[in-house]
Amino acid sequence: MKKGLLVAMGLLAVMVLGGVAMADKGKDSKYDTEEIMKKGFKGGLVAKVIKGEASEEDQKLVIAMLESLAHNKPHKGSEEDWKKRTTALLEAAKGTVEGKEGAASKLKEAANCKACHKDHK
Ligand code: HEC
Repeated sequence: MKKGLLVAMGLLAVMVLGGVAMADKGKDSKYDTEEIMKKGFKGGLVAKVIKGEASEEDQKLVIAMLESLAHNKPHKGSEEDWKKRTTALLEAAKGTVEGKEGAASKLKEAANCKACHKDHK
């Protein structure tokens, strides 16, 4: 009886901790926002895609990250605006990788760090 209770409490603790750690990661996402920011944005992968200097592997990684970002929840601010911003990022990144005209400048505009941080970070 006592042992069963301990096991139940342990499971509960794992669930709570797990829930906190993945708070801003959508259930269909592979990457959480922090990782995307560190690797993709601050790390310069998105900038490489904008400049057309990303390898095929990096291009794929950026698209996968932006797909996750669109599934993630914003830290704050309206979810509708978040959806708009992240979808614009994803569409522009896909266009850039496909070599569509004007897509790179759209991506540059959508990857505006300050504008998004002001509303959602
Ligand atoms: C579409 C919105 C959006 C854009 C665009 C964006 N960010 Fe962020 N960024 C966020 C959000 C939301 C967080 C908070 C995430 C968290 O801490 O869980 C964040 C957090 C960060 C962090 C802190 C990560 C950490 O350690 O927790 C860094 C660094 C960062 N962003 C860099 C950048 C840079 C550099 C750019 C531009 C090149 C950029 N971001 C563009 C939404 C965005």
